[in-house]
Amino acid sequence: MFTMIPNLVIGAVDLVAAFLFLFGLKRMSSPATAPSGIRVAGVGMIAAVLASFLYVFSVGGAAKPHLMVNIALAVLALAVGGAGAWLAGRKVAMTAMPQMVAIYNGMGGGAAGGIAAVELFGGKTHGATELVVTLLGALIGAVSMSGSIIAWAKLNGVIKKPLRVKGQQVFNALLMAVAVAIGGVIVYGGIVGATPLFYPITWICAFFAFALVFGVAMTLPIGGADMPVVISIYNALTGLAVGLEGFVLHNPALMIAGMVVGAAGLLLTLLMAKAMNRSVSNVVFTNFGEAAKQKPGAIKGTERAVEASDAAIKMRYASSVIIIPGYGLAAAQAQQKLYEFVKLLLAAKVSVKFAIHPVAGRMPGQMDVLLAEAGVPYDMIFQLDDINDDFATTDVALVIGANDVVNPAARTDKASPIFGMPILNADKAKQVYVVKRGEGKGYSGIVNGLFYDPNCNMVYGDAQTVLVKMIEGVRGLGTAAAA
Ligand code: TAP
Repeated sequence: MFTMIPNLVIGAVDLVAAFLFLFGLKRMSSPATAPSGIRVAGVGMIAAVLASFLYVFSVGGAAKPHLMVNIALAVLALAVGGAGAWLAGRKVAMTAMPQMVAIYNGMGGGAAGGIAAVELFGGKTHGATELVVTLLGALIGAVSMSGSIIAWAKLNGVIKKPLRVKGQQVFNALLMAVAVAIGGVIVYGGIVGATPLFYPITWICAFFAFALVFGVAMTLPIGGADMPVVISIYNALTGLAVGLEGFVLHNPALMIAGMVVGAAGLLLTLLMAKAMNRSVSNVVFTNFGEAAKQKPGAIKGTERAVEASDAAIKMRYASSVIIIPGYGLAAAQAQQKLYEFVKLLLAAKVSVKFAIHPVAGRMPGQMDVLLAEAGVPYDMIFQLDDINDDFATTDVALVIGANDVVNPAARTDKASPIFGMPILNADKAKQVYVVKRGEGKGYSGIVNGLFYDPNCNMVYGDAQTVLVKMIEGVRGLGTAAAA
């Protein structure tokens, strides 16, 4: 009776938390409702964490003397972790978001592996099924942790180049096979009561060591540019590991949260791969961009530059403008200036729309978040399928810090690494302006034929600097003209 009520409360709170996770996730599907979705899911998580303190009423006799110390440690861990995450979240630049996601995902995998370690080292798992589930969660969690740390190091520039050696994939397969075999020995030991050759603890250590090394070895050869997809894969794996450990701990909130993260990560991975027209195995096992270097001179012509103010004035007197933001806008943090410029165009009765490619930037939804941050109304933002037909009847397409997502080679050049990727039809507009700093290539590392088209002009410079000049250009026309 004494433990029944707290356990009932924990179960009820976990159920509500699970509902809040799902409801929050649903709201995250649109930029308009995403901030409240994050808060709703956060409330669910806080409730589940607080409810878990009720487990103090059901601790066994052996753990009772350590109760106060353990509670203090849990509170300390929550305070340190929560404060660190809060500060890091406030400080992080939008362009550094993928690294941050990578490191937090790694922590999630590590937490799942940690739970499994406590269960395994403490000999708390009983029966073959529970052992297998614990080991599976441990394996996936450990791989996800070490792989995510390497992904973070690559995105943060700590590891500059992919590390590839001959026979790497066979070596990786061997590492995984050994980890699985050791897992088999641990399960065997759990069933018969003793492990062959070594103490169980040695086998468990070896199991974790191989799993961790496998995560490192699997991620090292993958190019830094593919890291967002890789992080999404690890995200799915972390969710799965957490869900499995939730099963071991008989904790429904963990199970549901883990499965939600796992399913969302899997869907995101598939969506990113589809939007790039690549398979997930192509991302993991091939070196994107390197194999498909274009022959020198494959695209001929000259880029024609114009002044920012001239481009701005042309847009001011156009009747329709579609803006295509890309990675460079995020890198320059120029979203506020962009919207300031757009407001001047709107005041001059120009129809302005934003066209978002599903993989513009370096992480899903990055452009939507940037524009939302600048205060751009959602009804001005259109996704690829909803706007692509409009380009043909549009006066100006303003490509700002984007490259691959408007590269016509995706439509026409079968040898191109981006062939088949859906692109925004900027080239179909009557006039195209491309804002970028110089001859820099996009993520895929290939030349963009659009820049040489007769209807295209380049506006060279950092996106922020160019937009300041564009604003001055339109304002310079005087209030009467601009209003
Ligand atoms: P990119 O093709 O990467 O092109 C960005 C362009 O921005 C570059 O050509 C660069 O040229 C320019 N730039 C960089 N810094 C700038 C600055 N400060 N001011 C102005 N311009 C600047 O970007 P995109 O068109 O957004 O395409 C995204 C690419 O990333 C796609 O190939 C996609 O497949 C890939 N990818 C995306 C994701 C997700 S989920 N979004 C995940 C993995 C991969 P300069 O150096 O000349 O300035």
